[in-house]
Order: sequence, then C-alpha cells, then structure tokens
Amino acid sequence: MKELHHLRSEGDLNISPARSSWQAEYIDESTRSVLDEDARYFLHQSLSTPCLNVLQGCDGSFLEDLQGNRILDFHGNSVHQVGFGHPRVISAIKRQLDDLPFCTRRYTNRPAIELARELTTLAPDPLNKILFAPGGTSAIGIALKLARMATGRFKTLSMWDSFHGASLDAISVGGEAIFRKDAGPLLPGTEHVPPPDSRHCPWDCAGSCKLKCAEYINYVLEKEGDVCAVIAETVRSIPYFPPKDYWRIVREACDRHGALLILDEIPHCLGRTGRMFTFEHYDVVPDMVVIGKGLGGGVFPLAALLAREDLDCAPDRALGHYTHEKNPVACAAGLATLEVIRDERLVERSHELGTRALSMLDEIKSRHPSVSDVRGKGLLLGVELIDPATESS
Ligand SMILES: Cc1ncc(COP(=O)(O)O)c(C=O)c1O
Repeated sequence: MKELHHLRSEGDLNISPARSSWQAEYIDESTRSVLDEDARYFLHQSLSTPCLNVLQGCDGSFLEDLQGNRILDFHGNSVHQVGFGHPRVISAIKRQLDDLPFCTRRYTNRPAIELARELTTLAPDPLNKILFAPGGTSAIGIALKLARMATGRFKTLSMWDSFHGASLDAISVGGEAIFRKDAGPLLPGTEHVPPPDSRHCPWDCAGSCKLKCAEYINYVLEKEGDVCAVIAETVRSIPYFPPKDYWRIVREACDRHGALLILDEIPHCLGRTGRMFTFEHYDVVPDMVVIGKGLGGGVFPLAALLAREDLDCAPDRALGHYTHEKNPVACAAGLATLEVIRDERLVERSHELGTRALSMLDEIKSRHPSVSDVRGKGLLLGVELIDPATESS
C-alpha cells in the first residue's frame, strides 16, 4: 500500500488491508467479539488496538490464542531471553511477593542492590553505575537528562528510522514517522543522520561500503561543535547490522568532539545477539548503555541505565525518581533471569543456534527468489522478502 509506506516501521500496521484479510480467514466469531470489546474501550493507536488476536496463554517460545492455536513466537516483543513464564523466574517472583512486594522511594532493598551488583559486574569497565526504571523509554529519558547535566550541552545526534520509545523525549531522538507525525514540536537540537543500513544508504554504498555514514557523524559533530550525545541502537531490530568498524569510528568521533555515546540495547541485551551486550561485537564501550525488555524475565517491566562511573555527577538533582524504580519483585525477576541465562548458557546457545539458523536461511535464500536477504547475529535474525515480479519488499 503506497499511501501507508512512509508509516512503515518494524511492526505490521493494524490499519493495513493485509491485517483485515488475515483476520477474515483465521479469526472465529468468539475471538472477534473479544477483539471488538477491546476496541470499544482502548484508545485506538497504530501497532496496538485494534488488536490482531487474543491470547490466553504463553510459555517458553509459544503463545496460545483463544481458539487454542499454539503460535511459535518469533517476535516476542523482545522480552524472551528466558522464554515466557520460566519456572525459576515465576517462583522467584512468588517468593518475593510474600517477602517484600514493594519498596517505597527513599528506601532500598536487597534484590535491587544484588541486581545492581550483578549487572555492573557483567558490564565492562567503566560502566559501573546504574539506575533502574519501570520501562525502556523512561531509562532513555534518564540517559538524555544525565547527558545534558554531565556535558552542559543539549544537542543530540541520532538516526532516522530509529526507535527509542514512545514518549516525547524518546520520539524526538527517534526517527519513525509513525511516532513523530503530528506530535511536534519535539525537543530542540535533536539532529538526525542516516542509519548504517547498507540497503537503503543515501551514499549508495550497498556492496562497497566505505563507512561514509560513520564519517558523516564526525562531520556533523565537528560542524555543530556542541553536541551532548550520540544516541543510537547498537543494531537495529529490523534487523540491520552496522559494519565492523562503524562503532569504532563513531566512538572516536564522540571522543574527539566531547559528545557522549549512548547505546540503546533495550531489545537485544543479555545475550540475544550471542554476546551479553551487543556492543561487544564491535570492540567499543559506550559511555552509557540502556537495557530493558527481557531484563524483568518477560514478566515485569524493568529497564536499566548503565553509565560510566564518573558520570555520577548529579547527586542534587532527580534523574529518574520513578515510583517503581527499585521494585523488589521486578528486581527478583531480574536476578532469576540472570541466573537462568548463566546456568542454561543462553548467551552461548544464542550464538550456536543463530549460526546454524543463519546458514539454513542462507540455503533457503539460494532456492527462493522471494528471499532477497538474510541477516543475523546470534538469535537476532531477519529475512527480507520481496515480490520477485516487482522487486519490491
Ligand atoms: C530499541 C528500543 N528502544 C526503546 C524501547 C522502548 O522500551 P519500552 O517499551 O520498555 O519503554 C524499545 C521498545 O520496543 C526498543 O525496541
């Protein structure tokens, strides 16, 4: 649908004709009536209400809908590091609910401290400081505030087509029309550059990338002279993967021009790409990294900002101060998640399974002209489909 093209994002659009025809074929009357009731109460918005289908269960890699269909979930809203409803996560949550179900602000609790210790130990130096937040978007907001306070600057450089959450500050640095359209004016000083997506590169670099997009970041940082931070997803969920040297060049440009490097690893943290942190594939360490999604075990909303130790520079101001900042139940879920990742060797497993899956996908690509590209790191995998008759995706 040409008229919807500019609104395309990583999700399917709930207003597309493809959605309606799928539902006409697969959704029965009783599910239809629940969907209608959902649409009656919830504000309609793209990517959510009206919804696709109704769930009544989820476990491991599977969803179960009201019609009893079991659906292998390749999307998982990126909360599936340990799968849905992992028994160790669920029992840690139940135990914590009996013990200390909430922690009012100004107090702390053991699960929060233990999770902070675990995560700052997992992250390389100097990412030794942490703040929790009740969701990725809020953690991105904290990162942006801290970057301003630490540098005394306010401008940011981020990527077109990126996503950092749905709040006004996050969509200002984000680059997707579906979130930004009609929401302005957005934050001032939020400059955007083309993302490292070789298939849609304005420098036409597909096949012979000279990393012009990375050099361009250096160019803009130099011209602006007072950018506080470059903020970007280390890899994009679509997915596309920057070339090996991309982040090294951007890291050096940030250092040269006094800008902080903030990497958003909210959907891919804790092993999805076959490394605990995605930036480890690129031999760089950012000044801040934001993680979330599956951190709460796919049960609790939980995100975290990990920051360079010397950025602990705003003790007299409130950076996050969210009601559920040190929620002991969410932190117990986070601790159990880390234990499962370690005990079940999930980071290694992601690498092993991902390597196998990619070679199988490559083989499928060689046989099917409708598969124009396959990409992956660990279990972050993508298959690009085209209509071979028109060559369009
Ligand atoms: C890259 C990225 N950043 C930020 C967010 C926002 O996280 P949350 O929905 O937990 O606020 C998301 C969520 O999809 C994401 O994929």
